[in-house]
Amino acid sequence: MDWNDGYVADIAYPAAFFPEQSPTHLSIACVLNGVEPVPLDRPFTYFELGAGMGLTASVLAASHPHGRFYANDFQPAHVASARALAEAGELDNLTLLECSFADLAAGKIDLPPLDFITMYGVYSWVTPENRRHVVDFIARYLKPGGIVYVNYNAMPGWAGALPLQRIVLEHAARHPAGRERQVAQARDFVNALIATGIRYFDDNPALRHRLDSLAAALDVPLAQAARLAALLASSGHATLFLLDGALTDARPARALNRTIARDAVHGDQYQVLASPVLGGGLRAGLVQRLIYTVLTDRPDVSDSDTVLAAVRQKLERYRDAAGCDSSQAAQLAALTAGLPQTVEAILRLRVPVWRALQVL
Ligand SMILES: C[S@@+](CC[C@H](N)C(=O)[O-])C[C@H]1O[C@@H](n2cnc3c(N)ncnc32)[C@H](O)[C@@H]1O
Repeated sequence: MDWNDGYVADIAYPAAFFPEQSPTHLSIACVLNGVEPVPLDRPFTYFELGAGMGLTASVLAASHPHGRFYANDFQPAHVASARALAEAGELDNLTLLECSFADLAAGKIDLPPLDFITMYGVYSWVTPENRRHVVDFIARYLKPGGIVYVNYNAMPGWAGALPLQRIVLEHAARHPAGRERQVAQARDFVNALIATGIRYFDDNPALRHRLDSLAAALDVPLAQAARLAALLASSGHATLFLLDGALTDARPARALNRTIARDAVHGDQYQVLASPVLGGGLRAGLVQRLIYTVLTDRPDVSDSDTVLAAVRQKLERYRDAAGCDSSQAAQLAALTAGLPQTVEAILRLRVPVWRALQVL
């Protein structure tokens, strides 16, 4: 059998941050559902299975310096990239393991009992045999009362995406090429279809239903939120949210943020900044990360003209860089056109929030 066990392994998976995997988020989900959460005000252990490029694991480790984090993936390019990020971000509480689920289930890696085991985009993507390895791993290492988070794609929730998946697969089958090229070609093809006025995205009732249910889930009455906050505070589980992060060391989060912001380039996937107060990360687009770099490189600077000039210079550098195609150049031009308002708004509205959440 191939080392990749039937898994698509010839292209790297995009990096992404998923807040649902945060210990803070999971503890709140437990409290909401009447289940005792894992205390977060003392050391705990956490494992992410199939961590891909390691962005989620890195942000979570940086935001929880007293947690001990582990993450695995069997794809060498993923683990190398994750290790580079963790190293540059000076994370000493994250161990990145290049190994398979089978290795883990067989106990080949020395690990402590685990408080949290999470996986995102893994369980429904792998073979039945690997699903058994995942279950065996959980049975072997999860502490009593520990929390497991499984995110998976399943029917009928994903039915709306099936036509798109089929278009991409059929297009790829008819245009043999390297996987990356096939993806790019299929994307162009889908964009061309959309440009013809195809109504699939507008008309798909399943997609609309997903959006509706998300809006409903966000509509939590204030009184309920306040009761939850009181409960979390009194149980000691939400110190991170409610005590201004005073108990948490913000230095690891800031070190990782400096790395993420310093390496920001147009069109990258590292669009998050870690917050120890949130116990997770905040989405941060390119301009926000460029501003973060300016503010951390030059802490004496706060006036918007100086920040604007520095950010504009960085954007111009991307535009002039070789390899910027016409659509990227157009996106950069649009970004540059609205830059004064964007920078002013971020400085006025986002930076104070970053400071309160100890992102900055
Ligand atoms: C769809 S990606 C999700 C990555 C990451 N969790 C995310 O959501 O961004 C699934 C990941 O699982 C890894 N993977 C798949 N099968 C595996 C196995 N048998 N052992 C270890 N890792 C595996 C892949 O290399 C890939 O990085």
